[in-house]
Amino acid sequence: MDSVKVTKTRLFEMKIKGEKITMLTAYDYLMASQLDECGIDLILVGDSVGNVMLGYENTIPVTMEEMIHHCKAVSRGVERAMVICDMPFMSYQVSLEEALRNAGRLLKEAGAEAVKIEGGAEFFDTVKRLVETGIPVMGHLGLTPQSVYQFGGYGVRGKDEEQASRMLEDARALEKAGAFSIVLEKVPAVLAKRITGEVNIPIIGIGAGIDCDGQVLVTQDMLGLYDKFVPKFSKRYAEIGKEMKDCYRKYIEEVKNKKFPGKEHSY
Ligand code: KIV
Repeated sequence: MDSVKVTKTRLFEMKIKGEKITMLTAYDYLMASQLDECGIDLILVGDSVGNVMLGYENTIPVTMEEMIHHCKAVSRGVERAMVICDMPFMSYQVSLEEALRNAGRLLKEAGAEAVKIEGGAEFFDTVKRLVETGIPVMGHLGLTPQSVYQFGGYGVRGKDEEQASRMLEDARALEKAGAFSIVLEKVPAVLAKRITGEVNIPIIGIGAGIDCDGQVLVTQDMLGLYDKFVPKFSKRYAEIGKEMKDCYRKYIEEVKNKKFPGKEHSY
């Protein structure tokens, strides 16, 4: 693993060379420092923090203060990876000024190096303005969880030709506005391949097949730590949640039965 700091330039270089880009989510210092130590390229402080860490039903209630709190912890643990922070619902939709002020807070107060927003051509002016101000922006197309009520669920997006060509246009618009990368969530693999081939910025897929420039997962999902909902696209690399519960049960049993602490833990 190279120890060189991941930058926008490096990501473009990786796309051109066909080197896959890796991204995982983190919401705290410990996990972020582990991911960084292991060589992840991008760390996303996703608004999925709402589901995974804060117990909300979806990402709608997540606030700027919550994103700042978690992003601060993450950025304290990271040296090499690029830290990208999600802009929560209604922090960038109301006006350009609010988008700018809130994105600025994520960089100034929370230590993010870039922000991610959900949506395409409709946010052309917002993305352009943020980028012109010096704030790198990652787009997010396909399944955009902040629009769950509008779409009425979390189904695959871009299944018919009309939706597919709109998504391609959105990707082109984001690129033109100056976004440095796009997350494509839950779209058919053939469409993701087409978009990846037709835009010049790195495309990071989640449930979007093998041909994207990189891949992202929610870390708690891939660790088998969060089992309230397990998406088909998320490979479980371990069953850490089960192991943790085994530890809690063992500790409870040992304390109840006076097996812990032993002499070696006592003064
Ligand atoms: O919030 C999040 O974790 C995300 C990823 C699923 C890409 O946006």
